[in-house]
Amino acid sequence: TIWSNVIGTGGYLPETIRTNDDISTMVDTSDSWIYERTGIKSRRIAGPRETASSMAEIAAREAIDMAGIDVQAIDLIIVATGTPDRVYPSTACLLQQRLGIQQCVGFDVQAACSGSIFALSIADQYIRTGFSKNVLVVGSEVCSRIVDWTDRSTCILFGDGAGAVLLSASDQPGILSTHIHSDGGYEDLLYCPNPQVASFDKQDELGYISMRGNEVFKVAVNTLGRIVDETLEASGLHKSDIDWLVPHQANTRIIAATAKKLGMSMDQVILTLETQGNTSSASILLAFNEGVRDGRIKKGQMVLMEAFGAGFTWGSALIKY
Ligand code: ACO
Repeated sequence: TIWSNVIGTGGYLPETIRTNDDISTMVDTSDSWIYERTGIKSRRIAGPRETASSMAEIAAREAIDMAGIDVQAIDLIIVATGTPDRVYPSTACLLQQRLGIQQCVGFDVQAACSGSIFALSIADQYIRTGFSKNVLVVGSEVCSRIVDWTDRSTCILFGDGAGAVLLSASDQPGILSTHIHSDGGYEDLLYCPNPQVASFDKQDELGYISMRGNEVFKVAVNTLGRIVDETLEASGLHKSDIDWLVPHQANTRIIAATAKKLGMSMDQVILTLETQGNTSSASILLAFNEGVRDGRIKKGQMVLMEAFGAGFTWGSALIKY
């Protein structure tokens, strides 16, 4: 059997910090409202010259350095993003050029906040079949550019950043399983229009995130409960076998519900929400990188990643690190 092993992780956060108090000067809200409802205190905002591909490059270089492999050994790049630099070329192609990789395949994956789980799942299939040996998976987002900074129900939630992992083929267990799902029946609850290419009847829309937060919240909690069950059943593992939960970071209350379902204490959850907000497809890989680099996540430990996002899309990845 061929397995996908994590051999490197990386992350990048833009320098500018935007606190809840900063946002309180822009819309009618408060630090306490935001923190109590979401667990967020501040988020990072990309500089005017930063893009999904520029942030992806920094995160990717960190992962490549940790792995200690020649960049030319990378044969597949998958970038998860909902905020690509360009419609085309893909962010993965732009990243390939930035990294100076001559021979590889690159493409983007769009699954909103579940993007990095979808990308990991795809990467794992390509490694298992022998098509790829070293796969760079990146989630990179400039959410701040698709957020309406006059809409207090969404602008408090999102942040910018990039996370990366390098996966390599091995005869030892790594990614044990991935599960991905989508249901296109919920477009109205959470979407971001693309006004330039929308049909005529939708052209009056602006290109900003629109969300019915409360309804999304309820579906998210239920769905993530189901994905936990599905993942454990398929793996034959008991919930006590999981060492770390590395969740998509949308809301502390959603994460706490999943941890409770797993019988885990919040000490076993890698939480970045407080200082990063929701970085969409970057959040899980940023959190994973943080847990690995600060020594909490150790070699051989069992990590469960899970995500839920627009589409709706949702999924999980069970990884022996
Ligand atoms: N400050 C103060 N008041 C606010 C703010 C704000 N920033 N935003 C909304 N309110 C008000 C509302 O107007 C409403 O007032 P009303 O009762 O007078 O009408 C009240 O607060 C309650 O609003 P709700 O939307 O019901 O608040 P809720 O408790 O649901 O919290 C939140 C909102 C934080 C957005 C929550 O619903 C949530 O986290 N949802 C899930 C988000 C998520 O997981 N998204 C999926 C991933 S994102 C992606 O894929 C792109």
